[in-house]
Amino acid sequence: MSATYVHGYHRRENERLQDQAGTLVDLLHSDTSYPAGSVILEAGCGVGAQTVTLAQRSPGARFMSVDASADSVAEAKRTAEAAGLTNVLFQQADIFDLPFAPETFDHVFVCFVLEHLSRPVDALAILNRQLRPGGTMTVIEGDHGSTYFHPDSSAAHRAIQCLVELQRQGGGNALIGRQLYPLMVEADLEAVHVSPRMVYVDSSRPDLVDGFIRKTFTAMIEGARESAIAAGIIGPDAFDAGVRDLYRTAEADGVFCYTFFKGVGEKRRRA
Ligand SMILES: C[S@@+](CC[C@H](N)C(=O)[O-])C[C@H]1O[C@@H](n2cnc3c(N)ncnc32)[C@H](O)[C@@H]1O
Repeated sequence: MSATYVHGYHRRENERLQDQAGTLVDLLHSDTSYPAGSVILEAGCGVGAQTVTLAQRSPGARFMSVDASADSVAEAKRTAEAAGLTNVLFQQADIFDLPFAPETFDHVFVCFVLEHLSRPVDALAILNRQLRPGGTMTVIEGDHGSTYFHPDSSAAHRAIQCLVELQRQGGGNALIGRQLYPLMVEADLEAVHVSPRMVYVDSSRPDLVDGFIRKTFTAMIEGARESAIAAGIIGPDAFDAGVRDLYRTAEADGVFCYTFFKGVGEKRRRA
């Protein structure tokens, strides 16, 4: 994986990924469950934020969750143990150099990983080869271009744009959610279906105000402060004003919208 992984591997980012996963469980995972006996590859499991939900929702399935970062895998193992999971194995592995034979898995799950890769179609094609014919691939990504809010603020949009730019400079794409369909089709998946999952937040949903506006989205933007300033993309005052305006949307009259995209496709069956 690229050494410029834009979100970093610090404790605060790990907590943010856990907050994000907890807040979005129903929106992202309500329609994901795997039959008993099936074997699933979770690629880029990070600190295990999605792993816990996946494994709990499919207790009869077995998961192999891999990540390029040894530290994240170690943290994911601790998280899984604390949750009492017995159906997950973890391994450090790079998507571009997987240690498994082709057609080993019934399903593949990959969440918030493609946005960091300079060759997302190649990654999907490699993961597709891991599937048995007729197996499914589920891909979830965000798209920072889908962010709008009240009160609107050009400073806030500029701060968001810093993350988009940093991710672009690191070879990734923070606007990749909208491209899931063409990417999955190009990777030769069949019967691809993409569904947008909008997070709509106003103050009648205090759990989302805290869990999504503050602890997921704005925390993610804030996390890019030093890198964005060091890269000369923005000055500290302008960045801080943007972050302040993002937090402002979490007040009583604020509204926040963001859209994730979830794609499911099938490995082509042999003719
Ligand atoms: C934003 S995190 C998402 C983690 C987890 N899927 C989640 O939703 O919480 C992205 C993860 O992808 C991993 N990653 C990036 N490139 C990778 C690669 N080539 N092979 C394996 N993992 C990779 C990173 O180490 C990081 O843990």
